[in-house]
Amino acid sequence: MTNTAYEAWLNYGQLKSGSLYNQYIDWCVELVVTEDNETIQAAAAEFIQGMTSMLGKAPLLTAKPEGPCIVIGTFQGGNPLISRVFAGERTDSLGPEGFLIRTNATEQCIAVGASTPVGILYGVFHLLRLIGTESEIDALNLSMSPVNGLRMINHWDNFDGSIERGYAGRSFFYESNQFLNDTKRLRDYARLMSSVGINAISINNVNVHELESLFITEQYLPDIALIAGIFRVYGIKLFLSANFASPIQIGALETADPLDPAVRQWWKDKAGEVYRVIPDFGGFVVKADSENRPGPFTYGRDHADGANMLGEALEPFGGIVIWRCFVYNCKQDWRDRKTDRARAAYDHFKPLDGRFNDNVVLQIKNGPMDFQVREPVSPLFGALEHTNHLMEFQIAQEYTGQQRHLCYLVPQWKEVLDFNTYAKGQTTLVKHIVDGSVWGNKYNGVAAVTNVGDDMNWTGHGLAQANLYGYGRLIWNPELTAKEIAEEWIRLTFGTDKGLVVAIRGMLMDSWRIYESYTAPLGVGWMVNPDHHYGPNVDGCEYAKWGTYHYADHKGIGVDRSVKSGTGYSGQYMGLNASNYENLASCPEELLLFFHHVPYTHVLQSGQTVIQHIYDTHFEGAEQAAQLLATWESLEGSMDSGLYVQVKQRLEEQAEHAQEWRDRINTYFYRKSGIEDLKGRKIY
Ligand code: GCU
Repeated sequence: MTNTAYEAWLNYGQLKSGSLYNQYIDWCVELVVTEDNETIQAAAAEFIQGMTSMLGKAPLLTAKPEGPCIVIGTFQGGNPLISRVFAGERTDSLGPEGFLIRTNATEQCIAVGASTPVGILYGVFHLLRLIGTESEIDALNLSMSPVNGLRMINHWDNFDGSIERGYAGRSFFYESNQFLNDTKRLRDYARLMSSVGINAISINNVNVHELESLFITEQYLPDIALIAGIFRVYGIKLFLSANFASPIQIGALETADPLDPAVRQWWKDKAGEVYRVIPDFGGFVVKADSENRPGPFTYGRDHADGANMLGEALEPFGGIVIWRCFVYNCKQDWRDRKTDRARAAYDHFKPLDGRFNDNVVLQIKNGPMDFQVREPVSPLFGALEHTNHLMEFQIAQEYTGQQRHLCYLVPQWKEVLDFNTYAKGQTTLVKHIVDGSVWGNKYNGVAAVTNVGDDMNWTGHGLAQANLYGYGRLIWNPELTAKEIAEEWIRLTFGTDKGLVVAIRGMLMDSWRIYESYTAPLGVGWMVNPDHHYGPNVDGCEYAKWGTYHYADHKGIGVDRSVKSGTGYSGQYMGLNASNYENLASCPEELLLFFHHVPYTHVLQSGQTVIQHIYDTHFEGAEQAAQLLATWESLEGSMDSGLYVQVKQRLEEQAEHAQEWRDRINTYFYRKSGIEDLKGRKIY
């Protein structure tokens, strides 16, 4: 067993000799670089590493080519080849991160040009991707720029080395309250992230404990600067999660009141201190007044007061505040069926629209609850006309199998991004809201909680790398399909054998639906064990102490979120969405129990009752999970044995665990409903 999958999609597997191989050899004899810039040098090093490994032959690095070559350089960098190839091109619409790639027969070169070094780096990664997936390069004429401004990763790593909701080992930033400073791993991580276009990473948990509050002091800033320096070469800005109560915790103040002049000054001084050490520091990510984190409510202030204070401190240095909207009441009484966690983010933030400073960006989870296998899109998307905001996804599979089950999440994210909000005219898709084009926001984009740790393969489950890769690729260009992204990833990771590509692509593409089938049906969500959120437990959510989220009783199941008779949540949507969700007849069935409380005998479009549907889909899902394993086993021998065995073990666990899900859920609802005439297989 050899392959640890550490290199992931940058493993640059050797290509087979053949026509394309010859094409690559022809073009890649020489690499022309004339600019002395660390990011361009990193791009050159990457290209040489990639080509040497894929072709078995190192390109010669030169300033003056003698024949066909690859040339990389900025438009203003003075390289004569670049100037000639791109002469007369309009490059202003490329933006600071875009690039052009041209095959130019007259000049006998393939040129990668951009306005900035990081554009060059992205262009080189793209060229390597084209070669790694065995695409023609004889006639390239590409112009690419990222659609979203901020393309961010959030780490939930703690200073003690643990990772909140981490399923791939421990942190590779810290251990036992010390910085690991493992520069090789950090650089390889930056390469992986940059190769899929990530340009911002926050390196500590949004739940900032007392020790992590010290990150913004002179004690730890040099260590943070080391990480920022490695990231910088790869076009990534470093962010830190900040504790709102820092003025009390690490300052000598008695209050963190955002309107107190001393507190405001404290943050300004603090920002100055941070920027002296890290001049391109990105800014702060803040979880405030959420799940018992400190925040402005303590002082009778609101989220805008809190966020603006930090915004003001960071503003002189060009930093931003990313303020999370994951705010809700954790202690709901079970008898109270009007208070609805789903409503909370909108109820808190919609009234504040327009009150946030220019450098404050709200970060909104994709759904109104918490990264369930199926949720509606948060109604805040479309509701904030005058406020910068980001989408927040979760690559870590907290509620979707914790990287022990296979669940390729790109199809889910795509559904979210393609959702029509009706916010400004008949077609106002979420992806156009988050990319800033609908309201013209200064800051826009997407952030996601990452799924990496110090496991050799980064993500625990070998196939969970597809989510990390897919996240970056999708938010760079939301028009890519989930299938295209899956295929790219498979080709780069496993090679281009057709049978293998088709088999793994099928597994990935089916996996979300399979996971949903044997876990939480019809949008009901949550039926996981409390605290750790793994495995079936219908009444198990930690907040069940204050009322389950699904209200299953002997009469029925689901939450009435209608305006007419429920919590009123469906009224937070606009246009057709509001009426579709409001009415049982028009509510999309995959979200039926999210929006309505129905009897178990309610008949679905399929003609099946709800209880029969729950029962059948759980059987089907468990069978399909077993099928995933069978498909994988058919691939034995066609890939490295180490990777094969690692994934096989996870799929075995999934197949077994899916049966447990099936039996626990089916038995529970069978008993609860009192209905005995379920057709088909036995209840366990
Ligand atoms: C979920 C998750 C927590 C996390 C929180 C958040 O509730 O279970 O671990 O802190 O989301 O997004 O802040």
